[in-house]
Amino acid sequence: MHHDSIAVVDFGGQYAHLIATKVRRQKVLAEILQPEDPISKFKQHKGIILSGNPSLSSFGEDSDYNKEIFDLDIPILGFCFGHQEIAKHYGGNVMNGKQEFGRAQLKINRDHPLFKGLSSSEQVWMSHNDTVTSVGPDFEELGFSILGEGTEPHHFAAIGSDKYRRYGFQFHPEVDDTTHGDEMIRNFAVEICGCSASWEMEQYLEEEIEKIKSRVGSGSVFLLASGGVDSTVAARLFGEALRPEQLHLLHVDNGLMRKNESEQVLKAFKDMGLDANLHFVDATSDFLSALEGLVEPEQKRKAIGDTFVKVFEREAQRLGLSNHLLGQGTIYPDTIETGGTKRSDTIKTHHNRVQIIEDMIAAGKVIEPLADLYKVEVRELGEKLKIPSEMIWRQPFPGPGLGVRLLCSTGTLNDAALIPEIADEVAAVLVNTSFVGTVLPVKSVGVKGDLRSYEHPVMIHGTADWNKLDEIAGTVLKKVRGINRCIWNLSPSMPTEFRPLAATMTKDRLDLLRDADHIVMEGLRRHGLETEVWQCPTVLLPLEIDGHGEELCIVRPIHSERAMTATAAHLPIELIEEIRKEVLALPKISGLAYDLTSKPPGTIEWE
Ligand code: XMP
Repeated sequence: MHHDSIAVVDFGGQYAHLIATKVRRQKVLAEILQPEDPISKFKQHKGIILSGNPSLSSFGEDSDYNKEIFDLDIPILGFCFGHQEIAKHYGGNVMNGKQEFGRAQLKINRDHPLFKGLSSSEQVWMSHNDTVTSVGPDFEELGFSILGEGTEPHHFAAIGSDKYRRYGFQFHPEVDDTTHGDEMIRNFAVEICGCSASWEMEQYLEEEIEKIKSRVGSGSVFLLASGGVDSTVAARLFGEALRPEQLHLLHVDNGLMRKNESEQVLKAFKDMGLDANLHFVDATSDFLSALEGLVEPEQKRKAIGDTFVKVFEREAQRLGLSNHLLGQGTIYPDTIETGGTKRSDTIKTHHNRVQIIEDMIAAGKVIEPLADLYKVEVRELGEKLKIPSEMIWRQPFPGPGLGVRLLCSTGTLNDAALIPEIADEVAAVLVNTSFVGTVLPVKSVGVKGDLRSYEHPVMIHGTADWNKLDEIAGTVLKKVRGINRCIWNLSPSMPTEFRPLAATMTKDRLDLLRDADHIVMEGLRRHGLETEVWQCPTVLLPLEIDGHGEELCIVRPIHSERAMTATAAHLPIELIEEIRKEVLALPKISGLAYDLTSKPPGTIEWE
């Protein structure tokens, strides 16, 4: 079936895909195109959206993309960088400076179809360094922005030309902080471009089933099924599209699973009737030997991803399977965070995006029906497929499992000399508060301005007041360089001495992490918070504290929707007390802390 569609031009950053998702939320199909794609690809769409990119500038030099799009008789809407490019192309000016970050009010100058149904003042979200300072002939200012009543107006926040059907927003309507951004996107697609809103998840489901059938033909799919939300939805989807003999599921115990996880996963697949060709292999020793001696997060991730393929191929051979595709429940953030679009940085290599798998994809040997979706949409699809809700709403668990939650170390730091300097900066920020803080001699992965970071955490100590804790964590992370996380000490007093220990991925350490994780997950269940908290990693860092123990345990409860951003969740103090008692009683634990970091600048996982 044909659907009217919008092309979203990916200028990098992590925005284009979010825009495409928001367009599809309005039931209009959206396709992401690259700026240098041939003009014929753009012509197939009823409208074009130019995305923003925090690291590109419209000021000065000409930017590199196919400007023939401006010759097309198709409406174009630009956001941020895209907005500035439109202004410039049609004779306006852009200057560097007059930045705005965060929330602002958009004051709309007149009734316009782009703002149909909205009021004359709307909350919008800004993030820009360059600013449009004038527009060319036949263009007008549709709205200006202010930070608050009575403050100086920031002109040309929204511009447009009904003659050319070109429009631009300095702000980002695709983020949730622009309160009526969805309506603005709908107005562009439906009112300006004339798209009919005909695309729905039901149809996506039907179309995906047809696509799977034609791709697989008389062959088969051998799906790596971890039991997580994504691979479970993928399994059901393949189950709908293929005959039972065409689908084989492989559940691998990689030794990095939670306590009793494999048992529960196998039972859940059985209960869903997906056990016709359900295979299980305990490959703990393969994974542990691949990880032996590794410390660096990316190396660990690659070893885990490669071992999955090795085990998969060995099992396929053992079962006598041939002419099969490797099935994976890969979702969109897995690709983008691995640097899988041309202009995105590698935040981390997801287990399903290691080089061997990229090579298999290039050779047409992989099938990933969810690769365009975010977690919220995967869950929506799971509901349409009638998967039991406790499976759909389980907290996500990463493919590399506890492998990215058990930090390893050589016991020495190459930037140890910097720590006292960073600690001085932390102390300066905390000087007039009731909190104290220190910098830990370990590093974890984070994401800053769309780029990967590998930096130190700061530990703070003070009272259990969430407003204060959030405020202090936010300020420390904003003001101090060289850090990407802020954790709150839950041990009775602030430790004074942290000694990094040499540690690698061993079964004993994994068993200890499994026990700590089990305490936290059981606590969430007891308090009915399993689904309210989006995800809650438990992490171990190899640190001796004040001469005791070997592992600092971190609890990281978060709220999120699409995993691209996250905020720290606030667990009830009673539950924190219960966790504290039980975790501190485990052998070798040197302390306990609570991660207060949002994403960015942290990531959800520590590696
Ligand atoms: P981060 O840590 O990047 O994680 O904020 C975002 C979401 O992705 C999950 N995650 C993974 N999932 N394979 C997966 O299937 C991976 O390699 C992987 N790494 C992170 C993470 O748990 C979170 O939900």
